[in-house]
Amino acid sequence: SAAEKDGYDYFMLKEIAEQPKAVANTLLGRVGNDGLLSLDEMRLSDDELREVDKVVVVACGTAYHAGMVAKYAIEHWTRLPCEVELASEFRYRDPVVDRQTLVIAISQSGETMDTLMALRYAREQGARVLAICNTNGATIPRESDAVLYTHAGPEVAVASTKAFLTQMIACFLVGLYLGQVRGTKWGDEIRSVVRDLSDLPAKVDVVLETMEPVRELARNLASATSVLFLGRHVGYPVALEGALKLKELAYMHAEGFAAGELKHGPIALVEENVPIIVVVPSPKGRSVLHDKIVSNIQEVRARGARTIVVAEEGDEDVVPYADHLIRVPECPVLLQPVVSTVPLQVFACEMASARGFDVDQPRNLAKSVTVE
Ligand code: G6P
Repeated sequence: SAAEKDGYDYFMLKEIAEQPKAVANTLLGRVGNDGLLSLDEMRLSDDELREVDKVVVVACGTAYHAGMVAKYAIEHWTRLPCEVELASEFRYRDPVVDRQTLVIAISQSGETMDTLMALRYAREQGARVLAICNTNGATIPRESDAVLYTHAGPEVAVASTKAFLTQMIACFLVGLYLGQVRGTKWGDEIRSVVRDLSDLPAKVDVVLETMEPVRELARNLASATSVLFLGRHVGYPVALEGALKLKELAYMHAEGFAAGELKHGPIALVEENVPIIVVVPSPKGRSVLHDKIVSNIQEVRARGARTIVVAEEGDEDVVPYADHLIRVPECPVLLQPVVSTVPLQVFACEMASARGFDVDQPRNLAKSVTVE
């Protein structure tokens, strides 16, 4: 009913709007203002955490994209090798996991069959499994050694939004905490990022307040046949997520690529007027990849693409090459997906309704896939 949707036309719109609150709830009680985290919920002693020699993240769909972001963050802050794998692939390929492996299973519903089977497999090999889950008491957290709930509140729309943002936050908490306990050369950075986490809800709010031009753009592009997404580093999973949302909701051909791969194939898809959404890393001085993406934008634009550029506030280098510029607030490099994903959610949602589809009930998809 309209009441359940708080006056929004779709649950998805309501859930997109709830993201600042959801992110704040994930952080609640876990982040000290001394720059230290307390995560007793991980239920592993500091000694056990120091014994971990590898992290493996397993998940499906949008949760897998959160896992991809986790890999960049966890390897950097902890200096532990971190793999991320689709749960459906993991358990059928004889993966190397043992007692020293920390397996992180990410699932909004906590009921996804492939993720559940992957964690069962990992526990049989002796690995310790930490669930990152949004649903209290679901099967995945019940069968895991420990659980970090995202506390995003119930997510009804099939396309995951607030669960995704909070899954990334939970992954950051794990990575920062492991880094804090194990002590790495990034100690100062870890403390400063922990402090920056609390600014994220307000930053997501700023993005939400500036979405009208994005909605207008989506309506203007409603008859496009294909949309491409480019990103690098943590912007790469954001590009994949933007494309997945568009497929799921607008039934449009959409693909995300790592921008560094442009010349190895994707550039062949660039033709006159094809919309390309580029997720730009933090500006020069903070990300060495910034210049490289700016050249990618120039390259695709020279071939006729219509460039839609998602870039941080104050990034002037992208201005000459952006047909449409979407601004997000400045963020620590690894946290940027929390803000840069939001315009892509809004874009997909608006595109789907402009094309006349029910955003909350996309065809052929289920909120939770409890079969193989
Ligand atoms: C389905 C949903 C997706 C979700 C995926 C994983 O495909 O439509 O939105 O990302 O399952 O679900 P989970 O509950 O495990 O996060």
